[in-house]
Amino acid sequence: MSRTKILVTGGAGYIGSHAVVELYEAGFQPVIIDNFVNSRESALDGVESILGVKVPLHRIDCNDAEALRAVFAEEGNVRGVIHFAAYKAVGESIEKPLEYYQNNVGSLLTLLTVMREFGVEALVFSSSCTVYGVPEALPVTEQTPTKQANSPYGATKQMCEDILRDVAAAPANKLRTILLRYFNPIGAHASAKIGELPLGVPQNLVPYVTQTAAGIREQLTINGDTYDTPDGTNIRDYVHVVDLAKAHVVAVQRLLAGTGETVETFNVGTGRGNSVLEVVQAFERATGVKLNYRIGPPRPGDVPAIYADVTKSVEILGFQTSASLEEALASSWKWQQHLADSQ
Ligand code: UFG
Repeated sequence: MSRTKILVTGGAGYIGSHAVVELYEAGFQPVIIDNFVNSRESALDGVESILGVKVPLHRIDCNDAEALRAVFAEEGNVRGVIHFAAYKAVGESIEKPLEYYQNNVGSLLTLLTVMREFGVEALVFSSSCTVYGVPEALPVTEQTPTKQANSPYGATKQMCEDILRDVAAAPANKLRTILLRYFNPIGAHASAKIGELPLGVPQNLVPYVTQTAAGIREQLTINGDTYDTPDGTNIRDYVHVVDLAKAHVVAVQRLLAGTGETVETFNVGTGRGNSVLEVVQAFERATGVKLNYRIGPPRPGDVPAIYADVTKSVEILGFQTSASLEEALASSWKWQQHLADSQ
């Protein structure tokens, strides 16, 4: 039986590469689009080594409508798209707003236009819990009001959500879409053949933790311990990237089955909130490695605490995470050691 083709933009990236593996293992035929501006081809060697097959790759930019048309034409029978490709650094987006709006919003518009031309109706979109801003109550449900974004990056996610709602609401467009609001993805594939590849100094907590443990960075700085949280450090919902990848498979299956509404939004998190200090302690427990850390000043723009209410994703999407924080951190550490060995 032939596999159902799903186009994965940004399929060589951190979340994209894990989703490609899970899609293939669930019986789909992923087809990757990537321009490698923030990813490396070595990720696809890892994917091939896990799956034992090469996944088709088109090295194009999603903003390039002609190139996208050529991919849809060549592939012939694409049934759905998962759109990961986007810029994702909050701080950088403040320095380069034009690039962020152009790339993140522009590529979605181009993709939707070409999908409509080729009659492709199912789209899973990578959104973020950043759309909730500083929430008034925790945990956040999908009904929690979204807030004014505090960075151009966050604004692009809100704009893309609005665009998708409007486009899907017009019946002529025949678009069905699932917006997945990710909380904080961490961890790596159990094989340690794929994982996060931060370029330069990591901005995110877990890559900084693993690089500190590996001796690449001297010391982790915890960004403030005077927040209104039990231990004073920020609280986040850290979700294993393999669990997150599986949410995309379930979303694609739901879109293809046509059982849901035209537009559906789901939180993808564990439903647990963990503080930065708890992450540090869990890492030490999971790996036996002591971390050198200090408390620094708060990072501007940080939300004090956010974690997901996952009732809707469990009950309607039928999706639940399974990895513990320790398991996720152990997999990040295994991946860090693999990176050290391969360099
Ligand atoms: N942190 C540290 N030290 C570090 C790095 C991070 O203490 O060296 C803290 C942060 O201050 C924060 C927590 O660890 O409290 C998590 O920080 P990350 O940068 O890993 O993640 P964020 O929650 O800030 O950002 C993530 C995604 C963004 C997304 C945002 C939505 O990386 O893309 O969630 O809230 F916009």
